[in-house]
Amino acid sequence: MPRPGYDPRAPEIHADPYPAYRALREHDPVHLVPGARLWFLTRHRDCLAVLCDSRFSARQGQRLRQRHTALPVSMLNTDPPDHTRLRRAAAPAFRPRALREHERWLAPLVGRWALRVREAARAGRETDLATEFARPLAVRVLAGFLGLPDDDLADFDGWADAVAGNLDPFADPAHPGEAAMSAMHDRFADHLFARIADPRPDAFTVLARGHVEGLIAPAEAMSTAGLLVVGGVEPLGDMITNAVAALLAAPGRWRDLADADRPSARSSVRGAAEELLRIDPPIQFTARTAGEDLVIGGRSIRRGDGVVPLLGAANRDGARFSDPDRLDLGRRVNPHLSFGAGRHACLGAPLVRLFARLLIAAVHGCPVEPAPGAAAAVRRPGTVPRGYASLPLRWS
Ligand code: HEM
Repeated sequence: MPRPGYDPRAPEIHADPYPAYRALREHDPVHLVPGARLWFLTRHRDCLAVLCDSRFSARQGQRLRQRHTALPVSMLNTDPPDHTRLRRAAAPAFRPRALREHERWLAPLVGRWALRVREAARAGRETDLATEFARPLAVRVLAGFLGLPDDDLADFDGWADAVAGNLDPFADPAHPGEAAMSAMHDRFADHLFARIADPRPDAFTVLARGHVEGLIAPAEAMSTAGLLVVGGVEPLGDMITNAVAALLAAPGRWRDLADADRPSARSSVRGAAEELLRIDPPIQFTARTAGEDLVIGGRSIRRGDGVVPLLGAANRDGARFSDPDRLDLGRRVNPHLSFGAGRHACLGAPLVRLFARLLIAAVHGCPVEPAPGAAAAVRRPGTVPRGYASLPLRWS
């Protein structure tokens, strides 16, 4: 029997990677790409082991890109001690106290956007969830989190769009992301320096404080803010579209979510958010490089080999999740790897979780229910993040 292969750019895998993940996990769970020293991991335990093993380098791993200059130096593509220092400078922006401050504007923002959807539904108008709701809302969430003034929103939207592809390791070397990143950094510098004298409850202030305390140089503070945009805007929007698409594909689940009083709606908001993050995560994989010869899942990995934990595959591993392909909003044990794990685990996860819970709370009691619209849904090109360019919905 031929061994199963895996190419994230293949059209059928781009459309639905899960059958290929399953085939690999069953027949070749630690898969060596023919002709390359690159391994794809599909088992939860192997992905977790690599992400938590300090012998693997993210600095080298994140260079496994067609254009590694796309991502300026930040915590994402450094190893300790730089990683520790850069992460420590940004971490206070995601602490519970900071998030309580953000919730004060985030909750009304989500409420306003949920109202827009309901109004469109009442008017019998089809909506495109991706372009009319998920992406513009994600842009506003990140702008509010950073502390950008409303005047900057239009520019920010354009930059966020242009730099978004930078996360994709297969991004075209001619992609315009670098110019946009540098324009964005210039504007961010103005805000960052202004915060030294005028602190506010926002992420710019946290980075400014990190600079004043000697933790982070100005250029590093700018690339950290840039990382929050590149790593934040698109995945936030994709979380919404992927979750709604998963709900549409599982009859009855939207009602379970909306009808919080029904006995069948046993799911807590928290549990539902985790399950919706597990089932089709925006970040399907990340990359590391082995710092020494070692063995993973019985296969010998050589020093310098690239290793790609397929997070989306780990999330469907039957050895870790019962009935893994089923969207189970009441799932009790859910150690998904949608936010990665180990020292590079998503720093933004507390903000994402807060946002996801506010969105689910907005769905509670929602009198309208989505169904696929007249036009077909379209996945966005590119491999990271995974989301929709267009997700047309009609409402009943
Ligand atoms: C649903 C949305 C999101 C998902 C699924 C996601 C997923 C991930 C994953 C898998 C990683 C680990 C990468 C690795 O190990 O190489 C990561 C890292 C990171 N994420 Fe997120 N992310 C999301 C949203 C956000 C947001 C909104 C922010 C910021 C506001 C953010 C900030 C970061 C940062 C700073 C890192 C780097 C952490 C480090 O290297 O120490 N993420 N994210």
